[in-house]
Amino acid sequence: MTTDSTARIRTDIAHNARVWNYWLGGKDNYQVDRAVGDQVTAMFPGIGEVARADRAFLGRAVSHLVGDAGVRQLLDIGTGLPTGENTHEVAQRHAPDARIVYVDNDPIVLAHAHALLTSSPGGVTTYIDQDARNAREILDAAAETLDLTRPVAVMLLGILNFIPDTDETHRIVRTLMDGVPSGSYLVLTHPTLDADVGGAGNQAAMDFWNANATPPITGRSRAEFLSYFDGLELLDPGVESCSRWRCPEEAPVPQFGAVGRKP
Ligand SMILES: C[S@@+](CC[C@H](N)C(=O)[O-])C[C@H]1O[C@@H](n2cnc3c(N)ncnc32)[C@H](O)[C@@H]1O
Repeated sequence: MTTDSTARIRTDIAHNARVWNYWLGGKDNYQVDRAVGDQVTAMFPGIGEVARADRAFLGRAVSHLVGDAGVRQLLDIGTGLPTGENTHEVAQRHAPDARIVYVDNDPIVLAHAHALLTSSPGGVTTYIDQDARNAREILDAAAETLDLTRPVAVMLLGILNFIPDTDETHRIVRTLMDGVPSGSYLVLTHPTLDADVGGAGNQAAMDFWNANATPPITGRSRAEFLSYFDGLELLDPGVESCSRWRCPEEAPVPQFGAVGRKP
């Protein structure tokens, strides 16, 4: 942990990466995170299930892309704190030579990044301390590890919801996908208020979050979520609740998931 990253860690306000870690059963969180996490759970009891479903989606999507589709390079933006089945662990189980670049802007994720950097001998994992809004800089730094003339899986799981300006989120996705070649993939999850997947319960919890924690969160509709895939070919089954993506027997959670291929 660098002095600089330690100085950036705030323990007086709940922070998303740490509350998410708490909901996933992790230990890398403070009292303030647990208090807000418990309050949100009281308002929206399904939130722990959303976090677990999101991680399970990550496992299925990465397994498919690396195990079946032959992807060997992954750019995972909004990595979160290390937990079970991190992207490099899933990817390198299928392909030990897989190369993974993690990106997050949270100093506590930076402080724990060493746990993410345990690559298999034939592969590589690296970490970039950067804000997703700086997509061009992310691509430039990722190019030191990834060959951007070859396909890359660009992963943005549970992160665009922390960027309130929808135009800005589109600019980020477009810059990233313009920077990778044909045959690359976009992997997204995003929370929603849409009632058909149980989103109605999210509103009070999100309002509470925005009054008490950081960064502020925004839900987006199915149509808004789908629009991130403009110009891409959606893999089956298209946009789904992330719990049900290639797992149709599961109950839905109010978090969409989808994978698109750049033609
Ligand atoms: C809900 S967690 C999701 C973690 C992981 N992707 C997953 O799906 O389990 C969101 C992560 O995005 C990070 N994040 C939020 N806003 C960000 C931004 N503007 N730039 C980079 N990372 C950001 C947070 O620090 C946190 O680690």
